[in-house]
Amino acid sequence: MDAGNDFQLRLKRWRERCEQQLERVLDSRDRLTQRLHEAMRYSTLGGGKRLRPVLVYCTGEALGADAAALDNAAAAVELIHVYSLVHDDLPAMDDDDLRRGRPTCHKAFDEGTAVLVGDALQALAFEVLAGNDDSHLAPALRLAQLRALAYGIGVYGMAGGQAIDLAAVGSTLDAPSLETMHRRKTGALIEASVRLGALGAGLASGAQFDALARYGAELGLAFQIHDDVLDVAGDAAQLGKLTGADAARGKPTYPSLHGLEAAQALALHHRDQALAALTPLGERATTLRQLAHYVVDRNN
Ligand code: IPE
Ligand code: IPE
Ligand code: MG
Ligand code: MG
Ligand code: MG
Repeated sequence: MDAGNDFQLRLKRWRERCEQQLERVLDSRDRLTQRLHEAMRYSTLGGGKRLRPVLVYCTGEALGADAAALDNAAAAVELIHVYSLVHDDLPAMDDDDLRRGRPTCHKAFDEGTAVLVGDALQALAFEVLAGNDDSHLAPALRLAQLRALAYGIGVYGMAGGQAIDLAAVGSTLDAPSLETMHRRKTGALIEASVRLGALGAGLASGAQFDALARYGAELGLAFQIHDDVLDVAGDAAQLGKLTGADAARGKPTYPSLHGLEAAQALALHHRDQALAALTPLGERATTLRQLAHYVVDRNN
Protein backbone atom coordinates (compact mmCIF):
# COMPACT_ATOMS: atom_id res chain seq x y z
CA MET A 1 0.00 0.00 0.00
CA ASP A 2 1.42 3.45 -0.84
CA ALA A 3 1.95 6.13 1.77
CA GLY A 4 -0.98 8.27 0.56
CA ASN A 5 -3.52 5.45 0.85
CA ASP A 6 -2.15 4.47 4.21
CA PHE A 7 -2.57 8.06 5.45
CA GLN A 8 -6.17 8.19 4.20
CA LEU A 9 -6.95 4.96 6.04
CA ARG A 10 -5.43 6.25 9.25
CA LEU A 11 -7.40 9.48 8.96
CA LYS A 12 -10.58 7.47 8.49
CA ARG A 13 -9.78 5.28 11.51
CA TRP A 14 -9.13 8.27 13.79
CA ARG A 15 -12.25 10.04 12.58
CA GLU A 16 -14.37 6.99 13.32
CA ARG A 17 -12.86 6.71 16.77
CA CYS A 18 -13.61 10.39 17.38
CA GLU A 19 -17.21 9.90 16.26
CA GLN A 20 -17.63 7.06 18.77
CA GLN A 21 -16.23 9.20 21.56
CA LEU A 22 -18.54 12.09 20.71
CA GLU A 23 -21.51 9.70 20.67
CA ARG A 24 -20.42 8.47 24.09
CA VAL A 25 -20.21 11.91 25.69
CA LEU A 26 -23.36 13.29 24.06
CA ASP A 27 -25.62 10.53 25.28
CA SER A 28 -28.45 11.90 27.44
CA ARG A 29 -31.83 10.76 28.59
CA ASP A 30 -32.74 13.99 30.41
CA ARG A 31 -36.20 14.84 29.10
CA LEU A 32 -36.28 18.42 30.40
CA THR A 33 -33.33 19.45 28.23
CA GLN A 34 -34.17 17.30 25.24
CA ARG A 35 -34.16 20.19 22.77
CA LEU A 36 -30.79 21.51 23.94
CA HIS A 37 -29.32 18.02 23.69
CA GLU A 38 -30.79 17.53 20.26
CA ALA A 39 -29.16 20.79 19.13
CA MET A 40 -25.81 19.78 20.67
CA ARG A 41 -25.93 16.46 18.85
CA TYR A 42 -27.10 18.10 15.61
CA SER A 43 -24.12 20.46 15.65
CA THR A 44 -21.52 17.92 16.73
CA LEU A 45 -22.24 14.53 15.19
CA GLY A 46 -21.84 13.33 11.63
CA GLY A 47 -19.84 16.12 10.06
CA GLY A 48 -16.58 17.98 9.98
CA LYS A 49 -13.06 16.88 9.24
CA ARG A 50 -12.22 16.22 12.90
CA LEU A 51 -8.76 17.72 12.39
CA ARG A 52 -8.25 18.68 16.02
CA PRO A 53 -9.00 15.23 17.50
CA VAL A 54 -6.95 13.65 14.72
CA LEU A 55 -4.04 15.84 15.86
CA VAL A 56 -4.50 14.67 19.44
CA TYR A 57 -4.41 11.03 18.33
CA CYS A 58 -1.53 11.41 15.88
CA THR A 59 0.64 13.39 18.30
CA GLY A 60 0.00 10.94 21.12
CA GLU A 61 0.57 7.96 18.86
CA ALA A 62 3.86 9.42 17.59
CA LEU A 63 5.02 9.44 21.23
CA GLY A 64 3.83 5.92 21.94
CA ALA A 65 0.53 6.56 23.77
CA ASP A 66 -2.40 4.18 23.72
CA ALA A 67 -5.41 5.57 21.85
CA ALA A 68 -7.54 4.97 24.95
CA ALA A 69 -5.41 7.48 26.87
CA LEU A 70 -6.20 10.09 24.21
CA ASP A 71 -9.95 9.62 23.81
CA ASN A 72 -11.08 12.22 26.35
CA ALA A 73 -8.75 14.88 25.00
CA ALA A 74 -9.78 14.12 21.42
CA ALA A 75 -13.47 14.49 22.27
CA ALA A 76 -12.81 17.65 24.30
CA VAL A 77 -11.04 19.56 21.51
CA GLU A 78 -13.79 18.72 19.03
CA LEU A 79 -16.51 19.80 21.48
CA ILE A 80 -14.72 23.12 21.90
CA HIS A 81 -14.31 23.48 18.15
CA VAL A 82 -18.01 22.85 17.53
CA TYR A 83 -18.93 25.37 20.22
CA SER A 84 -16.74 27.92 18.43
CA LEU A 85 -18.44 27.20 15.09
CA VAL A 86 -21.96 27.49 16.53
CA HIS A 87 -21.14 30.89 18.06
CA ASP A 88 -19.09 32.02 15.03
CA ASP A 89 -22.15 31.47 12.81
CA LEU A 90 -24.55 33.50 14.97
CA PRO A 91 -26.00 36.72 13.53
CA ALA A 92 -24.01 38.70 16.11
CA MET A 93 -20.80 37.26 14.65
CA ASP A 94 -20.49 36.00 11.05
CA ASP A 95 -24.22 35.49 10.46
CA ASP A 96 -23.90 32.31 8.41
CA ASP A 97 -26.77 30.04 7.38
CA LEU A 98 -24.84 26.97 6.27
CA ARG A 99 -22.34 24.80 8.14
CA ARG A 100 -21.11 21.32 7.29
CA GLY A 101 -23.63 21.24 4.46
CA ARG A 102 -26.60 21.85 6.74
CA PRO A 103 -28.46 24.83 8.24
CA THR A 104 -26.44 26.38 11.06
CA CYS A 105 -27.52 25.66 14.62
CA HIS A 106 -29.41 28.93 15.09
CA LYS A 107 -31.25 28.32 11.79
CA ALA A 108 -32.18 24.72 12.56
CA PHE A 109 -33.12 25.63 16.16
CA ASP A 110 -33.04 29.27 17.36
CA GLU A 111 -30.48 31.85 18.49
CA GLY A 112 -30.97 31.36 22.19
CA THR A 113 -30.53 27.63 21.82
CA ALA A 114 -27.36 28.17 19.76
CA VAL A 115 -25.87 30.35 22.50
CA LEU A 116 -26.63 27.63 25.04
CA VAL A 117 -25.28 24.88 22.77
CA GLY A 118 -21.95 26.69 22.79
CA ASP A 119 -22.05 27.18 26.55
CA ALA A 120 -22.95 23.56 27.22
CA LEU A 121 -20.41 22.13 24.75
CA GLN A 122 -17.66 24.19 26.33
CA ALA A 123 -18.59 22.98 29.80
CA LEU A 124 -18.87 19.39 28.58
CA ALA A 125 -15.41 19.60 27.01
CA PHE A 126 -13.81 20.44 30.35
CA GLU A 127 -15.88 17.84 32.18
CA VAL A 128 -14.78 15.17 29.72
CA LEU A 129 -11.14 16.27 29.81
CA ALA A 130 -11.13 16.28 33.62
CA GLY A 131 -12.03 12.59 33.35
CA ASN A 132 -13.88 10.31 35.71
CA ASP A 133 -11.12 7.87 36.58
CA ASP A 134 -7.40 7.97 37.05
CA SER A 135 -6.51 4.89 35.08
CA HIS A 136 -5.09 6.61 32.02
CA LEU A 137 -3.33 9.75 33.08
CA ALA A 138 -1.45 11.10 36.10
CA PRO A 139 -3.30 14.02 37.75
CA ALA A 140 -0.48 16.49 36.98
CA LEU A 141 -0.68 15.69 33.25
CA ARG A 142 -4.43 15.99 33.28
CA LEU A 143 -4.19 19.38 35.00
CA ALA A 144 -1.67 20.50 32.39
CA GLN A 145 -4.13 19.44 29.66
CA LEU A 146 -6.93 21.43 31.31
CA ARG A 147 -4.68 24.47 31.52
CA ALA A 148 -3.50 24.17 27.92
CA LEU A 149 -7.05 23.92 26.63
CA ALA A 150 -8.29 26.81 28.74
CA TYR A 151 -5.37 28.99 27.63
CA GLY A 152 -5.91 28.10 23.97
CA ILE A 153 -9.51 29.26 23.94
CA GLY A 154 -9.33 32.34 26.18
CA VAL A 155 -8.32 35.94 25.65
CA TYR A 156 -4.86 34.99 24.36
CA GLY A 157 -6.36 32.28 22.20
CA MET A 158 -9.62 31.69 20.39
CA ALA A 159 -11.93 34.18 22.14
CA GLY A 160 -9.35 36.95 21.86
CA GLY A 161 -8.78 36.17 18.19
CA GLN A 162 -12.51 36.27 17.54
CA ALA A 163 -12.67 39.65 19.33
CA ILE A 164 -9.94 41.01 17.04
CA ASP A 165 -11.87 39.57 14.07
CA LEU A 166 -15.13 41.28 15.07
CA ALA A 167 -13.44 44.59 15.77
CA ALA A 168 -11.71 44.50 12.39
CA VAL A 169 -14.81 44.08 10.23
CA GLY A 170 -14.93 46.79 7.62
CA SER A 171 -11.39 47.97 8.28
CA THR A 172 -7.94 46.75 7.27
CA LEU A 173 -5.37 45.22 9.58
CA ASP A 174 -1.66 45.41 8.98
CA ALA A 175 0.06 42.11 8.23
CA PRO A 176 1.36 41.44 11.78
CA SER A 177 -2.07 42.13 13.33
CA LEU A 178 -3.79 39.85 10.82
CA GLU A 179 -1.27 37.12 11.59
CA THR A 180 -1.88 37.54 15.32
CA MET A 181 -5.63 37.35 14.79
CA HIS A 182 -5.29 34.08 12.87
CA ARG A 183 -2.82 32.60 15.33
CA ARG A 184 -5.26 33.28 18.14
CA LYS A 185 -8.68 32.60 16.70
CA THR A 186 -7.72 29.30 15.03
CA GLY A 187 -4.05 28.53 15.62
CA ALA A 188 -4.29 28.42 19.39
CA LEU A 189 -6.83 25.58 19.54
CA ILE A 190 -4.88 23.60 16.95
CA GLU A 191 -1.70 24.12 18.97
CA ALA A 192 -3.59 23.10 22.12
CA SER A 193 -4.69 19.89 20.37
CA VAL A 194 -1.06 18.97 19.75
CA ARG A 195 -0.11 19.86 23.32
CA LEU A 196 -2.95 17.69 24.65
CA GLY A 197 -1.76 14.75 22.55
CA ALA A 198 1.79 15.12 23.86
CA LEU A 199 0.59 15.43 27.46
CA GLY A 200 -1.60 12.36 26.94
CA ALA A 201 1.58 10.48 26.06
CA GLY A 202 3.30 11.71 29.22
CA LEU A 203 5.42 14.39 27.53
CA ALA A 204 5.02 17.70 29.37
CA SER A 205 8.17 19.75 28.71
CA GLY A 206 11.55 19.78 26.98
CA ALA A 207 12.80 20.23 23.44
CA GLN A 208 10.42 17.72 21.85
CA PHE A 209 7.41 19.21 23.60
CA ASP A 210 8.39 22.70 22.47
CA ALA A 211 8.97 21.45 18.92
CA LEU A 212 5.50 19.92 18.84
CA ALA A 213 3.91 23.10 20.19
CA ARG A 214 5.67 25.09 17.46
CA TYR A 215 4.46 22.59 14.86
CA GLY A 216 0.90 23.05 16.14
CA ALA A 217 1.08 26.83 16.08
CA GLU A 218 2.46 26.98 12.53
CA LEU A 219 0.03 24.34 11.32
CA GLY A 220 -2.83 26.30 12.88
CA LEU A 221 -1.83 29.48 11.11
CA ALA A 222 -1.45 27.64 7.79
CA PHE A 223 -4.88 26.11 8.39
CA GLN A 224 -6.64 29.49 8.82
CA ILE A 225 -4.83 31.05 5.85
CA HIS A 226 -6.03 28.13 3.73
CA ASP A 227 -9.54 28.57 5.15
CA ASP A 228 -9.41 32.19 3.92
CA VAL A 229 -8.17 30.97 0.53
CA LEU A 230 -11.00 28.45 0.26
CA ASP A 231 -13.53 31.20 0.97
CA VAL A 232 -12.28 32.87 -2.24
CA ALA A 233 -11.26 29.94 -4.43
CA GLY A 234 -13.06 26.92 -2.98
CA ASP A 235 -16.25 25.17 -3.99
CA ALA A 236 -19.26 25.75 -1.71
CA ALA A 237 -20.70 22.27 -2.31
CA GLN A 238 -17.45 20.64 -1.24
CA LEU A 239 -16.92 23.03 1.66
CA GLY A 240 -20.43 22.72 3.05
CA LYS A 241 -20.43 26.47 3.73
CA LEU A 242 -21.02 29.45 1.48
CA THR A 243 -18.02 30.98 -0.30
CA GLY A 244 -17.39 34.69 -0.74
CA ALA A 245 -18.67 35.27 2.79
CA ASP A 246 -15.52 37.03 4.04
CA ALA A 247 -15.51 39.62 1.25
CA ALA A 248 -19.27 40.14 1.56
CA ARG A 249 -18.79 40.95 5.24
CA GLY A 250 -15.69 43.09 4.85
CA LYS A 251 -13.47 40.71 6.82
CA PRO A 252 -9.74 41.28 6.69
CA THR A 253 -8.24 38.02 5.39
CA TYR A 254 -4.96 36.84 3.85
CA PRO A 255 -6.34 37.04 0.29
CA SER A 256 -7.85 40.50 0.90
CA LEU A 257 -4.59 41.88 2.31
CA HIS A 258 -1.95 40.00 0.32
CA GLY A 259 -3.83 38.81 -2.79
CA LEU A 260 -4.82 35.20 -3.51
CA GLU A 261 -1.49 33.94 -4.82
CA ALA A 262 0.56 35.47 -2.02
CA ALA A 263 -1.91 34.06 0.51
CA GLN A 264 -1.49 30.58 -0.97
CA ALA A 265 2.28 31.00 -0.81
CA LEU A 266 2.08 32.09 2.84
CA ALA A 267 0.00 29.02 3.71
CA LEU A 268 2.76 26.86 2.19
CA HIS A 269 5.42 28.87 4.01
CA HIS A 270 3.80 28.20 7.39
CA ARG A 271 3.27 24.53 6.45
CA ASP A 272 7.02 24.39 5.83
CA GLN A 273 7.68 26.03 9.20
CA ALA A 274 5.48 23.35 10.78
CA LEU A 275 7.44 20.63 8.97
CA ALA A 276 10.76 22.16 10.03
CA ALA A 277 9.65 22.15 13.66
CA LEU A 278 9.22 18.36 13.48
CA THR A 279 12.89 17.68 12.69
CA PRO A 280 13.80 16.60 16.26
CA LEU A 281 11.09 13.93 16.15
CA GLY A 282 12.53 12.10 13.15
CA GLU A 283 10.63 9.12 11.74
CA ARG A 284 8.06 9.16 14.51
CA ALA A 285 6.46 12.28 13.07
CA THR A 286 5.61 10.83 9.65
CA THR A 287 1.84 11.08 10.14
CA LEU A 288 2.15 14.60 11.55
CA ARG A 289 4.07 15.55 8.39
CA GLN A 290 1.35 14.06 6.22
CA LEU A 291 -1.20 16.08 8.18
CA ALA A 292 0.73 19.28 7.48
CA HIS A 293 0.48 18.60 3.75
CA TYR A 294 -3.18 17.69 4.07
CA VAL A 295 -4.01 20.99 5.81
CA VAL A 296 -2.97 23.13 2.84
CA ASP A 297 -3.96 20.68 0.07
CA ARG A 298 -7.52 20.04 1.28
CA ASN A 299 -10.49 21.34 -0.69
CA ASN A 300 -12.94 21.20 2.20
C1 IPE B 1 -13.61 25.85 10.31
O1 IPE B 1 -12.88 24.78 10.84
C2 IPE B 1 -13.41 27.04 11.19
C3 IPE B 1 -12.05 27.47 11.29
C4 IPE B 1 -11.40 27.52 12.41
C5 IPE B 1 -11.36 27.92 10.11
P1 IPE B 1 -12.83 23.40 10.07
O2 IPE B 1 -12.50 23.63 8.63
O3 IPE B 1 -11.94 22.47 10.82
O4 IPE B 1 -14.33 22.89 10.16
P2 IPE B 1 -14.93 21.41 10.22
O5 IPE B 1 -14.77 20.95 11.61
O6 IPE B 1 -14.16 20.55 9.25
O7 IPE B 1 -16.37 21.58 9.83
C1 IPE C 1 -13.50 30.79 12.50
O1 IPE C 1 -12.96 31.50 11.46
C2 IPE C 1 -12.60 30.80 13.65
C3 IPE C 1 -13.28 30.21 14.82
C4 IPE C 1 -12.78 30.35 15.99
C5 IPE C 1 -14.55 29.48 14.70
P1 IPE C 1 -13.96 31.70 10.23
O2 IPE C 1 -15.09 32.57 10.59
O3 IPE C 1 -13.15 32.03 9.04
O4 IPE C 1 -14.50 30.17 10.05
P2 IPE C 1 -15.58 29.77 8.96
O5 IPE C 1 -15.01 30.17 7.62
O6 IPE C 1 -16.85 30.47 9.30
O7 IPE C 1 -15.65 28.27 9.09
MG1 MG D 1 -15.47 34.09 11.98
MG1 MG E 1 -17.19 32.24 10.17
MG1 MG F 1 -13.45 31.27 7.12
